[in-house]
Amino acid sequence: MRLRPVPALRAATSLLAPLLAALLLAGPVALAQQQSSIHPGEVWNDNRGLPIQAHGGGILQRGKLYYWFGEDRSQGLDPALRYVGCYSSRDLVHWRFRRRIAFADPEGIGPNWILERPKVFYNNRTRKYVMYMHLDGPLHPSEHGYRLAKVGVAVSNRPDGPYHFVRSFRPLGHESRDIGQFVDDDGSAYLIFEDRPYGFRIAQLSADYLSVEREVALLPMHLEGGALVHWHGLYYVLGSHLSGWDPNPNLYATAEHLEGPWSEFRDLAPPAERTYGSQSTFLLKVTGSRASSVVFLGDIWKPKALWDSRYLWMPLQLGDGRMALPSPQPWSINIKTGETSLQR
Ligand code: DGJ
Repeated sequence: MRLRPVPALRAATSLLAPLLAALLLAGPVALAQQQSSIHPGEVWNDNRGLPIQAHGGGILQRGKLYYWFGEDRSQGLDPALRYVGCYSSRDLVHWRFRRRIAFADPEGIGPNWILERPKVFYNNRTRKYVMYMHLDGPLHPSEHGYRLAKVGVAVSNRPDGPYHFVRSFRPLGHESRDIGQFVDDDGSAYLIFEDRPYGFRIAQLSADYLSVEREVALLPMHLEGGALVHWHGLYYVLGSHLSGWDPNPNLYATAEHLEGPWSEFRDLAPPAERTYGSQSTFLLKVTGSRASSVVFLGDIWKPKALWDSRYLWMPLQLGDGRMALPSPQPWSINIKTGETSLQR
């Protein structure tokens, strides 16, 4: 018996056929674009096909490899532990999963202990990888909250661990919540931290990076998600207002010297856009043969589904002491030349 297509199916087939043909033709091109560009706000998968878990993160460059560290907020993990995701890439687009670094409550804080915004430095003298993390929690184990306001330090011989927890402290005796990292062109390393009563501090690490040694600047602004970059002779510091997980208009200031004087704070993007729904976490400078580009790394947080929080990475427009975040769109970067191009 010959089967005859029902009319509805015949209509659907005739409609779908050109679409399918177009998709087949466009498919490889679309796929190639997908694979060579960064798509802000979209699910970003690693080499295993799993969404990258590196929220509130930072980047460490070692030779031709970039390492991305951040909070691993995957579902179904041991609730007693906290996790840092570590990935590596040669092109900033394709990321290879390296390790999920697990930490146990280092100070008996209790079940609601907090590890956020891990950042890893490489120390040339000791040849150690030194991880800083925002370590926090309530004063009583049965409570919630961010009351300890400390940093934790962990050390490894390899970028992807295992890491050995060394100690925790309040940098220079100050409260410290969100942290950011910065390494200057001369190799000196700095921690940026939010000191709730006073503002935003930039402090230099000790020679072995295991402690915070010298305050460089206190910017009397209540900003978190701190990030810093040195570009064409000017320092740009960036941060977000304190609005929990909700996005707000991020601000930046500039200075010729880290010590200041710092300029007034200015909007990174039109304030109504609230940083296009994201919050700053890191500024990545990519210097190539033709250009030096600075990439804004931000988090699009989903507080009720932190594991599905997204990333907003965009190349910044810099010049004349100004810094601007373009509206999110697919873009690509040539690591060799340092050039970026927007695709819309
Ligand atoms: C804002 C901070 O930037 C985040 O890292 C996180 O601590 C949230 N607050 C928690 O509300």
